[in-house]
Amino acid sequence: MNRRVFLKGTMAAGFLATAGIPLLSSCSGVKRSDLPPSAEPAKGIDEEGARILWYASLAPSGHNSQPWFVKVVEKEEWIIGGDPLRRLPAVDPDNRELLLSIGAFAENLSIAASVAGYETHMEVIAKSPRDEEVIRVSLKKANPRTYPLERFTLRRTVKNGLLLREIAKEDVKILSEPHEGCLFYYPRGTDHAKCIEEAAVESYRVQTYRDEAQKELAHWIRFSNEDARKHRDGLTTEGMEITGFSGWFVRQFMDQGDVVGERFRKQGIDIAAKWAAEGGGWMVITSRGSGVADLVETGRRFERTALLARERNLALHPMTQVLEEEKGRREITSSHGTDVIPQFVLRVGYLDKYPTPVSLRRTVASFVRV
Ligand SMILES: Cc1cc2nc3c(=O)[nH]c(=O)nc-3n(C[C@H](O)[C@H](O)[C@H](O)COP(=O)(O)O)c2cc1C
Repeated sequence: MNRRVFLKGTMAAGFLATAGIPLLSSCSGVKRSDLPPSAEPAKGIDEEGARILWYASLAPSGHNSQPWFVKVVEKEEWIIGGDPLRRLPAVDPDNRELLLSIGAFAENLSIAASVAGYETHMEVIAKSPRDEEVIRVSLKKANPRTYPLERFTLRRTVKNGLLLREIAKEDVKILSEPHEGCLFYYPRGTDHAKCIEEAAVESYRVQTYRDEAQKELAHWIRFSNEDARKHRDGLTTEGMEITGFSGWFVRQFMDQGDVVGERFRKQGIDIAAKWAAEGGGWMVITSRGSGVADLVETGRRFERTALLARERNLALHPMTQVLEEEKGRREITSSHGTDVIPQFVLRVGYLDKYPTPVSLRRTVASFVRV
């Protein structure tokens, strides 16, 4: 038995169990700060346009697939689209989450453009969720708006360390503002929160034993630093909050094949259960329709809330499996009445310290098409 196989066999048992414990901080994985922000020139886009698109690309997306592309029609007319190569067919067959992510991207774009002195007009042009071209964006010169752009650069998804404290009424009110009655908060300890917690863990378990979903997840995990640097997307060890020695171990000794192994599946479920038991409760963001425009608009509202949460020291952690697996979706939907459609199920909680964003982003030039 060679040293690598020996180490893998003897040490893997606890690799995920210690996820988040920074044992060896000196050997960290690639983080966003290791890769220069890219406002490099892209065809058809000037420096200002590239900066706007870079801010837009700091939006969250499922598996950090960054499913967007931007087609430059003219200097001040762009089309935001969904890249078919970045779809997640095993967990998101109808492009629901892809369109929510596109919505979050569009929201960032619109705010960043307004700061640069442009008013944006956005028209949803996709007729079906599979249409590649989704939003036509027209930019028009206007007075620059004041907005703290560091909200984009400081926002991240946080999974570890959510405190059990109930979310203050004032904060719920602020996070609800973008949603006009489409955000629901269930404090920890309430019957509804308990039901969501159970459904979230059970859906995670079901999905973990669905081979196509697990293979798709494996495809988006960047196991080595080299892979992370090359792709600048997907789930890095840092992004999954597997840090220190555990992160080093995963980068050195694990690969895509391990993701479909029993040990990885079991440890993943244990971690999901631990996460679900933390935080001050759950938030559900709903929409009134399920068409392309509804999903884009819901993604935009979600992003506005995510940007506000950062300033309140609040973590928002989507646990989407519950909307991806049929039984979970039925349970969540049935408790929300027929006129509202759950689109995000989020764990929410205060943090002692909001960590620095680490997930990677592609260069602007790589998602701009002329
Ligand atoms: C539609 C959507 C679904 C998501 N689902 C999950 C999820 O189920 N579990 C999870 O840990 N993160 C989920 N996320 C968060 C992404 O993994 C995260 O946004 C991405 O890795 C980029 O990291 P960042 O948000 O820190 O920039 C989701 C994000 C979006 C927009």
